[in-house]
Amino acid sequence: MAYYYWVTVVVAFVVTSIIGSTQLLIRGRGRWKEEKARVPPGSLGLPFIGHTLGLVRTIRGNRVDEFFRDRINRYGAVSKLSLFGKPTALLAGPAGNKFVFFNHSLVLGRVASLPHILGERSLLAVQGDDHRRIRGALMAFLGPEMLRMYVGRIDSEVRQHLEERWAGRTAVAVHPLMKRLTFDIITALVLGNDDKGSPVRDALDRDLVNIFEGAMSAPVNLPFTAYRRSILGSRRARVMLQEMMRQKKARMQEGKASPNDDLLCRLLSMTDEHGQQLLSNEEIVDNTLATVIGAHGSLAALVTFMVRQLAEDPDTLAKMVEEHEEIVKNKAPGEALVWEDLSKMTFTWRVAQETLRLVPPVFGSSRVALHDMDYKGYCIPKGWQVFWVADVTHRDPGIFPDPAKFDPSRFDTRNKTMPACSFAAFGARMF
Ligand code: HEM
Repeated sequence: MAYYYWVTVVVAFVVTSIIGSTQLLIRGRGRWKEEKARVPPGSLGLPFIGHTLGLVRTIRGNRVDEFFRDRINRYGAVSKLSLFGKPTALLAGPAGNKFVFFNHSLVLGRVASLPHILGERSLLAVQGDDHRRIRGALMAFLGPEMLRMYVGRIDSEVRQHLEERWAGRTAVAVHPLMKRLTFDIITALVLGNDDKGSPVRDALDRDLVNIFEGAMSAPVNLPFTAYRRSILGSRRARVMLQEMMRQKKARMQEGKASPNDDLLCRLLSMTDEHGQQLLSNEEIVDNTLATVIGAHGSLAALVTFMVRQLAEDPDTLAKMVEEHEEIVKNKAPGEALVWEDLSKMTFTWRVAQETLRLVPPVFGSSRVALHDMDYKGYCIPKGWQVFWVADVTHRDPGIFPDPAKFDPSRFDTRNKTMPACSFAAFGARMF
């Protein structure tokens, strides 16, 4: 099986890369010669395959931080490698993060496999005006005003989950439970609660697992590969979402649902200056799916590692309990949390940030250079990917002294010593 896997990976890479590289060789030879001396140090690896297999292997072995750390230790804060068939500049440190997060000449890269998994019209697959329009629509939903409305709903999901799956047990497996909880929370916000607990929701949950695993594997669309299962799961999930969207539309027309009910209703009710639906049906489906996938995996990882930390660290646990008891003191029994309560959870948020520093759920991401760019005296040629990674900066002892130590006070707002863009768990969304 392992042999079959490696052979199919190599064959697929060779075929697709030969076509692309032949064109590149013809077009880019002259300019490449000129700039070659100035591109960052490192190597582009084996022809066509580059370093993608090494990266995929470490992702699957949960050692992806080692992959990037090795290269950064070897070549420094800026180096080159080849990922997903493209030459790539790897940047490390706050300066590199800043360069990536605030640069209009770097756009979200279209990793060739992504549109097959998340859909051609997802935020991660479109660029330019379409990206701005779709991002604007999603951010309007994700802003604090909307969140304020949903605090009660999140609170009720958490209580129900604890009663049904934690109460009365002496031991629980946290990660699967957190995946279920964050799935329930995110789908409640994104799809509403009309059909909660239905077989359709459970099927969607199963397909999300397939989709996620395929997105983290080599993009080889052959029978029995994780990537193929991911594409099939994504197709089924999108059919389910299309049907949910059709039903929501009908309910809204009958006055039985309102724009603020959930993300689907919200996107369906947004219009442009001509009164037309702002996002096409395909865009709504693809971005609803992308939001559920992106949000649920990262949240589940964060909460799981927080629980692990609290189980091993009685001092932090005691401080968090104290903070929460202070809030509970002013509430009637069973009264739901409100937005103002969240703003009192300053220590809890620091624990979350420190957990994200040590175990960032998203190891990094990439952009594509729209034209030749200069960075620290090197040339990053047009069309190259530019990759930022969180972990290496998060463990830099010059920024986070004694970096392996869990210390929530690093995120005390009075502590102003942290350079901008040092904490990058949320990427550019942080700023
Ligand atoms: C612990 C939880 C989370 C972490 C660590 C996280 C991390 C990230 C990162 C690293 C990016 C890429 C940013 C970049 O490349 O600059 C991202 C993008 C995004 N995330 Fe999250 N995320 C989390 C939760 C959520 C949630 C709960 C939602 C929605 C309900 C969400 C929605 C999005 C969206 C829409 C984008 C794309 C934004 C854009 O293109 O600007 N995320 N997230």
